[in-house]
Amino acid sequence: MKKDWFMNAIFYELYVRAFRDSNGDGKGDIPGVIEKLDYLKDLGVDCIWLLPMYPSPLKDDGYDISDFMHIHPDFGTIDDYKRLMEEAHKREMYVVADLVLNHSSDQHAWFQAALKDPSSPFKDYYVWSKTGKEYADARIIFLDTEPSNWAYCPEVGEYYWHRFYSSQPDLNYDNPAVQEEMLNTMRYWASLGLDGFRADAVPYLFEREGTNCENLPVTHNYLKKIRRTLDMEYPGRILLAEANQWPVDVREYFGNGDEFTMAFHFPLMPRIYMAMKKGDPAPIRWAIENTPAIPDGCQWCTFLRNHDELTLEMVTPEEREWMWQQYAPDPKMRLNLGIRRRLAPLLDNDPEKIRQANAILYSLPGTPIIYYGDEIGMGDNIDLFDRNGVRTPMQWSASQQNAGFSEAGQLYAPVIAAAPYAPEQINVADQQKDPQSLLNFMKHLVRLRKERPFLAKSSVQFLDTTSPATLCVIRGDETHRLIALHNLGDNSTDITLPSALQFIPKVELLTGTAIPQGLKTIKLAAHQSAWLE
Ligand code: GLC
Repeated sequence: MKKDWFMNAIFYELYVRAFRDSNGDGKGDIPGVIEKLDYLKDLGVDCIWLLPMYPSPLKDDGYDISDFMHIHPDFGTIDDYKRLMEEAHKREMYVVADLVLNHSSDQHAWFQAALKDPSSPFKDYYVWSKTGKEYADARIIFLDTEPSNWAYCPEVGEYYWHRFYSSQPDLNYDNPAVQEEMLNTMRYWASLGLDGFRADAVPYLFEREGTNCENLPVTHNYLKKIRRTLDMEYPGRILLAEANQWPVDVREYFGNGDEFTMAFHFPLMPRIYMAMKKGDPAPIRWAIENTPAIPDGCQWCTFLRNHDELTLEMVTPEEREWMWQQYAPDPKMRLNLGIRRRLAPLLDNDPEKIRQANAILYSLPGTPIIYYGDEIGMGDNIDLFDRNGVRTPMQWSASQQNAGFSEAGQLYAPVIAAAPYAPEQINVADQQKDPQSLLNFMKHLVRLRKERPFLAKSSVQFLDTTSPATLCVIRGDETHRLIALHNLGDNSTDITLPSALQFIPKVELLTGTAIPQGLKTIKLAAHQSAWLE
């Protein structure tokens, strides 16, 4: 394992269930992921993030875990999992998986034991109340479905606490036994070769009266204990935080380099869409300028989309309204405080915009994550429940038979069927053959990025140019310098390079176009980006 391998890397997030069905039961599985490792390697992926593949009634697509120490039978066996680790490592790829600390499924044996016998020690694995009135300052996250963070349990005659669906009771971290159980969960998967964890919903582990029950010092203390345990027993493994919070609050999750190794950059993500729609670089500049420095050895994870709704928690209420109007005109596209659509449909299936969004992300610091299917511009299905519309089967080929995902008659979810996102239009096999495809652009961008490690970490400067719609990003250090110009506007624009920058790049990196000597003005088409080195 190379030290700091995650610093300058490309992550790829995938649902085992949605990726490739190897045994024809209509559901993707771990052997299916193994079949496709060469595809991921070829794309330039360094690390795969596996969404939960543990036993679960799948009320929250696997984030409701009924047994932390096994694999869901639909997805394979522990031996399959071990083989995935070996096969990934053979290809010099890393694998991280979800560690869902905050809650279990109500089908978990611990919760079931509490229901059967309220005097059982397992009752204290969860958070109970006689009144359901405590912690009133904690917001509700799944606003569209949950009226309260408390749910009444008739078997026990008390209310239990849940920050997400009521089928996901929160674990009680004030109980040392729970703390130890979850450390053991982590130890177990690490012992089987996992390279790290994406820790789910970490701000909510503890509750304290009179607070909003997020980011509490006791929560940080426990997370530091997780890190210490991992460092001592499984050195080199990484911890990636899902803390959907403002930059100052997320900063705390890095501690002094003794808590998380990585954290998602939630505030940046919506501002890329905002900037591109407004034709104004200000939102992106704001997000980066308000990103606090993080300790050495830590890194941000940056993304455009993931398996959830495009969350609008990290914007102002006015910005949220505006984003909904612009990007979710149909109310069915909205969910909780977000938008349940994929990258390509959000960006009007416009190849320039999709490329630009990625070119922006890759020109900023952090380690980018690709959400499966977005590298080929997959569509979504807003008729499916909850966030399932962005979790449809991966489209491997134009095949009439389930786009090459499965040989089964019945799938866990339908393949996207409507133009322009049907398998005939959007699939891996065709894009591999087409040098102009999005997939080949992504491969190129990934390579450009990885060949320039300084892009992962070096400082960012923004420059005002003669074109107000252009985001001009300057990256690098004494020895390397990269200027990324992004015309965010809907019209073409001429940018006069400031004299200090009129050095002579030979080639525009994104397109490979030669640049004439002594170039002073660059013309960029609507939503075109240029990288000059
Ligand atoms: C995280 C996951 C989301 C899940 C929630 C509850 O936010 O990303 O998919 O529903 O946690 O576990």
